Amino acid sequence: MRKQIAAANWKMNLTIGQAEKLIDDIFKIPVSVKHGQEVVFGVPFPYLTTIKNKLVGKEHFLVAAQNCSDKKSGAYTGETSVEMLHSIGTDYIIIGHSERREYFNETNAQLAEKVLLAFTYKLKPIFCCGEALAIREAGTQNAFVETQLKESLFNLSAEQITNFVIAYEPIWAIGTGKTASSAQAQEMHAHIRRVLASHYGNDVANTVSILYGGSVKAANAKEIFGQPDVDGGLVGGASLIAEEFAAIINSLK
Ligand code: PGA
Repeated sequence: MRKQIAAANWKMNLTIGQAEKLIDDIFKIPVSVKHGQEVVFGVPFPYLTTIKNKLVGKEHFLVAAQNCSDKKSGAYTGETSVEMLHSIGTDYIIIGHSERREYFNETNAQLAEKVLLAFTYKLKPIFCCGEALAIREAGTQNAFVETQLKESLFNLSAEQITNFVIAYEPIWAIGTGKTASSAQAQEMHAHIRRVLASHYGNDVANTVSILYGGSVKAANAKEIFGQPDVDGGLVGGASLIAEEFAAIINSLK
């Protein structure tokens, strides 16, 4: 059974006080996280330790960094290494979010380096992929996403890709209020799984959790997560509202 995951992506939002209050507010609402499910908070670097400490004793609640350097260590002012993230107990790293690709020009080759570094320090990547509107309109989204996966992930071993986490986030649905239909999400998630199976075999591909991201909210989570190849979500805007995110957690399969 693949892990079902509700992952929050806070992006560059919230002060530390607001962040702690958000966590407290979520726990005031009855959230049920069963065996085989995980809740991951993707928080800004300076908050990782504080939020991790707030989750002590809460089984299945974990923290993610939103990025990492593609270099191991050294003279890279302002960067944060995977080793640093490991040393403070970070569980996951969101790698290759479309905002990083678009605003910081991150390439598939650089993202491949980040994924390898994550494995070196035993952090779990949440690898993001997804197409822009023009690509969707041209009908070439399957080939586009396939190239993203091949160029960043196909140098991994079958062992590394087992239990891997991918987030499919169509750029045209991020922060726009426009969600892919559950049928569009299922179609792309099945395609991603086929691409993985072509290289690693069905058994390995079936262990990979594929999250959907792009305007997930309480009102649509259950239907999207109910698709056979959708294993949860990576949630931006709605993860900043306690009631919304709690309902999204409770919508996991
Ligand atoms: P959104 O963002 O839920 O606000 O669309 C999702 C994401 O960018 O991860």
